[in-house]
Amino acid sequence: MTENVIALDGPAGTGKSTVARELSKKLGFEYLDSGAFYRALTLHIFKIYKSKNSSISFSDWLSGKEFLPLTAGVEILCEFSETGENKIFLNGEDVSSEIRTPEITREIKYIADKAAFREFVNSQLRILSQTHRLVMDGRDIGTHVFPDARYKFFLTASSRVRAERRYNQLLEQGIRSDLEEIEKEIVIRDKSDTEREIAPLRKAEDAILIDTDNLPKNSVISKILGCLDSGI
Ligand code: C5P
Repeated sequence: MTENVIALDGPAGTGKSTVARELSKKLGFEYLDSGAFYRALTLHIFKIYKSKNSSISFSDWLSGKEFLPLTAGVEILCEFSETGENKIFLNGEDVSSEIRTPEITREIKYIADKAAFREFVNSQLRILSQTHRLVMDGRDIGTHVFPDARYKFFLTASSRVRAERRYNQLLEQGIRSDLEEIEKEIVIRDKSDTEREIAPLRKAEDAILIDTDNLPKNSVISKILGCLDSGI
């Protein structure tokens, strides 16, 4: 049984990262955002695609490729910070902001649905777990990456509530957005995450389900803390 990883899965916008960050601070664990690894790998491969000046789409370009050479020599490093605001380095370059662009968010599904790329990311996550105690958020941590994790949680919320949260986050950053558009994007992402053939987003049978629709962040954290052994 894996004791040093707390798995926190769920769809986009359920507040996983905020909860995982706070939780890791409280427990003296590190926060690890597995999505950032998929984002960094997508950025790397998308840059190769762009450099080829291809006239076909990213997904068509990928479907004619061998996947393993695309990951050869790729180094993704996470620099942990006490606040949980980690930095992500791709082959030595800080890509923490670049991996969050709408373009990468849109194209990531073509990387996340391929077994070779998932294995690449999973092996990095497993290596990190050998030297760190981690609160790890993602889509398949409890089902595939650490199926034997002792503690697994699955966060949900309606697409509307998740869209409203994202809308308010953007507003706080001074960015006006369109709530309907955000909800539409969330629904599209849910669909590709839950319908992919390999490691789809789904609650592990032994994960504890937490519906965050009407539950503020602090209550979610208290609920999780209440499920952990006192000696953790
Ligand atoms: O967590 P975040 O929204 O940054 O993840 C971006 C995308 O990476 C997800 O929509 C999903 O397609 C992919 N992902 C995944 N498995 C994980 C984490 C993220 O497939 N464990």
